[in-house]
Amino acid sequence: MLKWIAVMLLIGAAALSEAQYAPTWESLDARPLPAWYGEAKIGIFIHWGVFSVPSFGSEWFWAYWQGSKDPAYVEFMEKNYRPGFTYQDFAAMFTAEFYNPVDWADIFNASGAKYVVLTSKHHEGYTNWPSKVSWNWNSMDVGPKRDLVGELAEAIRANHSHIHFGLYHSLYEWYNPLYLKDRNNSFQTNYFIVDRAECQL
Ligand SMILES: *[C@@H]1O[C@H](CO)[C@@H](O)[C@H](O)[C@H]1NC(C)=O
Ligand SMILES: *[C@@H]1O[C@H](CO)[C@@H](O)[C@H](O)[C@H]1NC(C)=O
Ligand SMILES: *[C@@H]1O[C@H](CO)[C@@H](O)[C@H](O)[C@H]1NC(C)=O
Repeated sequence: MLKWIAVMLLIGAAALSEAQYAPTWESLDARPLPAWYGEAKIGIFIHWGVFSVPSFGSEWFWAYWQGSKDPAYVEFMEKNYRPGFTYQDFAAMFTAEFYNPVDWADIFNASGAKYVVLTSKHHEGYTNWPSKVSWNWNSMDVGPKRDLVGELAEAIRANHSHIHFGLYHSLYEWYNPLYLKDRNNSFQTNYFIVDRAECQL
């Protein structure tokens, strides 16, 4: 949870004037919360992505399965999927065939929620919108063949404009070769930032 908040705050800070904040926690923490956020009693945060296909554990499925090799995840895959099945193979099964963003927006409104935050991209790197720099790992190329983010944004803004629409966006990707290269270089390089993160933001 703290990690999510940190990422969201970083994005929020970056969206404001660059000169206004310095890359220190003191400076970033000085950023005021928007008034509406303090007043909203309820909001909705949605984790939705390729990890929703196995729906086992959490959105950290891939890291627990093939990163730390948690026995519960390894066993789940052995029991339910053929040998050699990859995390990428889940994407074609992420079809979102019942996705009706107009209905979603109506339900969010009826719940009394004052803001809705959707995962545009989690640490797996799959983008829920047709990102040009996430070839064959985005919701238009493989899976739903739709712009999940754009459709929900439109439905909320058009019919429930008093609800704030927000996005969670992971600033790193567990297994992205560019990210791994930067990490290997102790973040003295920024290939991932230039070729991926900045384009997507
Ligand atoms: C939004 O929800 C409120 C409270 O339930 C309701 O009165 C209102 O009609 C809803 N608005 C729309 C556009 O559905
Ligand atoms: C707004 O709501 C109406 C009634 O549900 C629906 O037909 C329309 O598609 C919605 N507009 C958008 C842009 O989602
Ligand atoms: C990781 O860094 C070392 C030097 O610190 C370098 O020799 C190696 O090629 C790097 N590997 C990758 C995958 O970037």
